[in-house]
Amino acid sequence: MPLVSMRQLLDEAAKGGYGVGAFNVNDMEQIQAIMAAAKETKSPVIVQASRGARAFAEDLYLFKLIQAAAELNPDIPIAMHQDHGNSFETCKSAIELGYTSVMMDGSLKADGKTPATFEENVEVTRKVVDFAHERGVTVEGEIGVLGGVEDGHGAGGSGLEHLTDPDQAVEFAERTGVDALAIAIGTSHGAYKFTKKPDGSVLKMDILIAIHKRLPKTHLVMHGSSSVPKDLQDIINQYGGKLKETWGVPVEEIQLGIRNGVRKINVDTDNRLAITGAIRKVFAETPEKFDPRDYMKPAREAMQKVVAQRMTQFGQAGHAGDYKAISIADMAKGYKDGSLSTKPLVAAK
Ligand code: G3H
Ligand code: 13P
Ligand code: ZN
Repeated sequence: MPLVSMRQLLDEAAKGGYGVGAFNVNDMEQIQAIMAAAKETKSPVIVQASRGARAFAEDLYLFKLIQAAAELNPDIPIAMHQDHGNSFETCKSAIELGYTSVMMDGSLKADGKTPATFEENVEVTRKVVDFAHERGVTVEGEIGVLGGVEDGHGAGGSGLEHLTDPDQAVEFAERTGVDALAIAIGTSHGAYKFTKKPDGSVLKMDILIAIHKRLPKTHLVMHGSSSVPKDLQDIINQYGGKLKETWGVPVEEIQLGIRNGVRKINVDTDNRLAITGAIRKVFAETPEKFDPRDYMKPAREAMQKVVAQRMTQFGQAGHAGDYKAISIADMAKGYKDGSLSTKPLVAAK
């Protein structure tokens, strides 16, 4: 199947009442792991690349790998998404490469560190929306600021410092016309999210539910949604790693989110943990090995297992064949003629 827009995947997920995992990639093995999991579970999938990933792999290598994934998997809808675009230029370059979706993370200034003002966020996001929709490409915006820092990107802090205000979320959706809205409910990027298992008082699911009540048709996005499973931490530490005790986002909380409008769930760290644990195991148990395939193959399999499990838990499993791809050119027509309106339905308080 040709690459499809993320908007189509999320609209279908909303109809079916499920969520779609968005998994970060930097190389061929990660793309293969995701595609093998999607094939195994018959899932539509969102593959996403951060600015760091695009720089690491080089744009063309990464994009051609995604095209290969689409060609090799004609039955699986794949959206290719720019994760945490920091500026109009970053999003524009992704669109010009052929990405079918972009995130304009205007919650931070272009340095990717300093929280932006609400007006700055609206302005840059609106500009990306106008450019992207004219070309049939989906836009995700962010209101509120996630915690943590990944590869230099992020405001730092605990994730509880700039939570999303539901009234601002409504105004932001109305003024920008985004297709999907990332919100801050206390999660952060990376492995060190919580120092104890988060309960209702730590993860602000009440904010998510309040936003969904006000914006019942808007596709919500949860970032920083790795669960950081203990068994993956243990494998790393068993084979010489030094991870400190930590907790991620429980899958049940994500499932509660999915019942309340969450359609895209970002997962990167869990896959990083799975890959690193598998490689450490080979290095520790068979130090005489030096063929990269001897450790990249188990690493790829470990990531496939995590991704397949998340696809099942998020509910996207079994939905790959539900629909035919709408071309990006037809998406552009839909935005133009209003049939793909992004004017949000707003419910009274
Ligand atoms: O935004 C967070 C993702 O985990 C990507 O991380 O910027 O280190 O590639 P990265
Ligand atoms: P994790 O670090 O929890 O996997 O979050 C990934 C993410 O939000 C990518 O944008
Ligand atoms: Zn993120």
